[in-house]
Amino acid sequence: MIKADIRGKWALVTGASRGIGRQVALGLADNGCNVVLHSRDLAHTSPLAAELEAKGVEVVQISAELAKPEEVDEMIRILREEGPAIDILYNNAAIQIGYRSDWLDVPADEMRVSFEVNATALIRICHGLLPGMIERGWGRVVNVTSGVKDQPELIAYAISKAAVDKFVADTAGRLKEKGVLMNLMDPGWLRTDLGGPNAPGAVESVLPGALVPVLIEDGTAGELFRAQDWAGKAI
Ligand SMILES: NC(=O)c1ccc[n+]([C@@H]2O[C@H](COP(=O)([O-])OP(=O)(O)OC[C@H]3O[C@@H](n4cnc5c(N)ncnc54)[C@H](OP(=O)(O)O)[C@@H]3O)[C@@H](O)[C@H]2O)c1
Repeated sequence: MIKADIRGKWALVTGASRGIGRQVALGLADNGCNVVLHSRDLAHTSPLAAELEAKGVEVVQISAELAKPEEVDEMIRILREEGPAIDILYNNAAIQIGYRSDWLDVPADEMRVSFEVNATALIRICHGLLPGMIERGWGRVVNVTSGVKDQPELIAYAISKAAVDKFVADTAGRLKEKGVLMNLMDPGWLRTDLGGPNAPGAVESVLPGALVPVLIEDGTAGELFRAQDWAGKAI
């Protein structure tokens, strides 16, 4: 793999306070990348901010409820007008709602919230931050997806992730010619608040694989990277 030098670049990691986003932020910082940590409340990211600063990188914290378009727009406005300019967008935050033990009871209405947080907000953030990357001629966008399938109990979540997959499939080609590589990352089923305690994988196993679509410098775009393919390996 041809590895990009991301020292001194700025990444926005959504949902960085815990779980997979926290691991991604730690991994980026270990590669010398400055990080904007997003969650719903600055208090959620402040312990991680201190941890990353101790590694010698710069950190900014930002909050936005992704179910509220006005908060997403305000986050984008702050980043565009006040900076830092984002080179790497790691769209990780998501929710898994709607689950019922009987799949026929999954409330169709809960799909709206799931779709707003997991798909619409993600696309909104892309639309807000891509122009800067295109202007600078370099960017990486990693949209976190899921391997969920054959589980109609999770259909509200699964449909939102299918939308993310389609967004990447249809968008990545247009961006590639401008130096911006957009890809998908599937972390695998991991023990986090979202993944639950019965997941087979430790959250730490998402590294280093989750960093591959950031560090790749060979023009790959519109592809699905499975983090577990790199578990226990060096990149
Ligand atoms: N864990 C798995 O097994 C698994 C498998 C496949 C895919 N994924 C995907 O991996 C990503 C991360 O999952 P995870 O397991 O790390 O989840 P998690 O542990 O539940 O963490 C979710 C993160 O997203 C933020 N977030 C949640 N709802 C939000 C909202 N409405 N607005 C803004 N931020 C919100 C949380 O911030 P707060 O601190 O504000 O709560 C938190 O930082 C997701 O895209 C998920 O779909 C996970």
